[in-house]
Amino acid sequence: MIPVVATIEEIRQSVRNARSNGRTVGLVPTMGALHEGHVRLIRACREAADFVVVSIFVNPTQFGPHEDYSRYPRTLDDDLRRCSEGGTSVIFAPTVEAMYPTGSLSTYVEVPGLSDILEGASRPGHFRGVATVVLKLLNIVGPDLAYFGEKDFQQLLVIRRMAADLDLPVVIRGVPTVREADGLAMSSRNRYLGPEERKAAAVLSGALREAVAAVSAGERSTGRVRQILRSRIESEYRARIDYAEVADATTLQPLDEVGGNRRAVALLAVRVGPARLIDNALLPEVSDADQVAEKQTPPGGRHGE
Ligand code: PAJ
Repeated sequence: MIPVVATIEEIRQSVRNARSNGRTVGLVPTMGALHEGHVRLIRACREAADFVVVSIFVNPTQFGPHEDYSRYPRTLDDDLRRCSEGGTSVIFAPTVEAMYPTGSLSTYVEVPGLSDILEGASRPGHFRGVATVVLKLLNIVGPDLAYFGEKDFQQLLVIRRMAADLDLPVVIRGVPTVREADGLAMSSRNRYLGPEERKAAAVLSGALREAVAAVSAGERSTGRVRQILRSRIESEYRARIDYAEVADATTLQPLDEVGGNRRAVALLAVRVGPARLIDNALLPEVSDADQVAEKQTPPGGRHGE
C-alpha cells in the first residue's frame, strides 16, 4: 500500500528520508479524480526520479465563485489504485486547513501577461490560485523535477514562467495530452458528460485535427484557421464556444500568420452540457524554406515544372 500523508510535516519527513538515502525526488501535482492522463505523468516522473510524490488537493483558490469546486469529483479509493499503477512512492493529500491555516493568504503569485488572457480572461483569478498553490507544493516537497500536462497548455506556460522568474530549483517537465479513442482529451471533468454529450465532446479534438490538417496543407492565415475551428465546433449543437484562438505558443499573444520563427498553438474552451472542456494542439512548424517557396510561387501555382 502506498502511504498517504496529510500534513506538511509528514511529507517533509518522508522526502527527507528519501533524500538521505540518496534518492532523487519528483512531484506530480493533481486535484485527484485521476485518469490515464495523470497515470502517464506519474510514469514519466517515475522514469526520471527515484522517489515520486503525487499530491492530491482540490485547491479552492483556483475556482471561481460560480465554478464546480463543491461538486468536483473526489474519488480517493480509485485514485490510490491509479497512483500505484504509475509507481507512486507517497501521496500527499492535505486538507484545506493544512494548506490555508488562516483561511486565506496575504501572499500570491501573479504572472501578468500570461494569466489574464484566454483561460485567465474567462476565469479571473484562476492562474493566481494555480501558481500560488503550485509554488506552495514545490516549497513543501522540494522536488528535483515536477510534471505537468500539455493538456493545460496555458497552465504549463504560467508554471514554467514562474519557475524561471523566481529561480525555483526545480526542472518543470511537460507531458503530451492523453486522449480517449475518439480523440477527447482525458479530463476529470469528462465525468460530468451524459452519453450524448460525451459523443458531442469529440468535436473539440476533431476541430483541432482539422486546423492541423489545414496548416499542413498550406493554410497560413490564423484568421482562417480560427474560422475552421469555429465552424466545426458550431456544427455540433450541444457545443458552445467560450474561446477558439490561434496564438504564439510561447507568449500566447495573437498571431496573424502561422510560420516564421514563431510556433503557433490552437486553443479551445468549449461548453458541452454541464462541462467546460479545454483542449489545444500545436500547429505544424512551417519552415522558412516553405515560406520563401510560397512567396515565390505565383497565384495559381507553378506551371511547367
Ligand atoms: P488536474 O486537473 O488534476 O491535473 C493534474 C495534472 O494532470 C496537470 O498537470 C494536468 O495538465 C495533467 N493532465 C490532466 N489531463 C491530462 C491529459 N489528458 N493528458 C496529460 N496530462 C493531463 O491541473 C491541475 O490539476 C491543477 O491546476 C494543479 C496543477 C494540480 C494545481 O492545483
